[in-house]
Amino acid sequence: MLKVLNVVGARPNFMKVAPIVDAMRRRADEFLPLIVHTGQHYDAQMSDAFFNDLGIPKPDVYLGVGSGSHAVQTAAVMQQFEPVVLEHKPDWVLVVGDVNSTIACALVCVKLGIKVAHVEAGLRSRDRAMPEEINRLLTDQIADLLLTPSTDGDENLRAEGIPDERIRFVGNVMIDSLFHQLERAEASTVREDLGIAGTDYVALTLHRPSNVDDRETFERLLTALEAISARLPVIFPVHPRTRGRIAEFGLSDRVAAATNLRLIDPLGYLDFLRLYSGARLVLTDSGGIQEETTALGIPCLTLRENTERPITVTHGTNQVVGTDTAKIIAAANAILDKPRTTDAPTPPPFWDGHTADRILDALLEASKM
Ligand code: UD1
Repeated sequence: MLKVLNVVGARPNFMKVAPIVDAMRRRADEFLPLIVHTGQHYDAQMSDAFFNDLGIPKPDVYLGVGSGSHAVQTAAVMQQFEPVVLEHKPDWVLVVGDVNSTIACALVCVKLGIKVAHVEAGLRSRDRAMPEEINRLLTDQIADLLLTPSTDGDENLRAEGIPDERIRFVGNVMIDSLFHQLERAEASTVREDLGIAGTDYVALTLHRPSNVDDRETFERLLTALEAISARLPVIFPVHPRTRGRIAEFGLSDRVAAATNLRLIDPLGYLDFLRLYSGARLVLTDSGGIQEETTALGIPCLTLRENTERPITVTHGTNQVVGTDTAKIIAAANAILDKPRTTDAPTPPPFWDGHTADRILDALLEASKM
């Protein structure tokens, strides 16, 4: 029986851990799962809504770390996570993704000699100005088991000198959540509530510091969004970071004047799935949404200069368009000028809804080594 501490911290972690904990509970003769929530994200809409929608059991431990500078937040997670590990003495600690909680908890464990598995290992944007890239590089250097969502991840890890024994290609666990929840999301009334049911619309998310913390970049994006929203309604669930910047940069009036650019509060997992799955086009700077749109065959424009998920471009529906106003408008128009595609999507290998079980198998196998 393997005792596994599963760490979650921020919004993009919840849909990765949900299917893993679910599989561990199903395989209760082999696994004893515990959940630690660092509290990096704490608002009801950024955290609780996901536990409810995804049916994740209440965390066994809640650290309540909250927001702060990178150093403050990372250090607070480390300080508060260490006694939890010492108390529970798990066989494995499982961390997911690339947020500050991921590297903080991995670092605590490696110093205590507790084995760490990293889910979503090997992704690289090659942009070291991105905080997540540093978190990815460092977590992969110290974790014992590196579970990759696509084989470009394996190649990146090998190129960084990581031996094959530590790498397992298991597929994309976030797509397990997507496929498990697709039917349940049909009960969401978000499209009706927004008055867009049965119509064409665009879904938008924006929260990367490189996009929203820099006024000039944010304004360039806003100009493009104004133009696109003149053509179709753009539904924009606004991340708290972005909400703050709109106010701070004095952009509230300009945003309000674009009446078809519709700012709404962040959505839970099922409502957001219902929203983007019906969109004609998705605009985003998120990593996960590039993958989710690829799995469903929805056209996606990534408003960044790079992606750590190149498979969504080579095998999916994603185009990395950057932040130039004219380029974004041209790419959006090119998609909207064509009829909606009705071809069934062909997701990348192992994006099949069964990644959680492969992760559990890999943990069992690695425990014997
Ligand atoms: C974090 C992750 C990022 C991920 C994103 C998803 C890191 C380095 N970044 O960025 O990879 O894509 O989460 O959302 O780990 N805030 C709230 N309520 C909350 C959480 C945050 O109001 O529940 C506000 C706070 O003012 C905070 C700001 O949002 O200062 C940013 O939050 P933070 O967790 O620092 O980073 P994110 O931008 O959310």
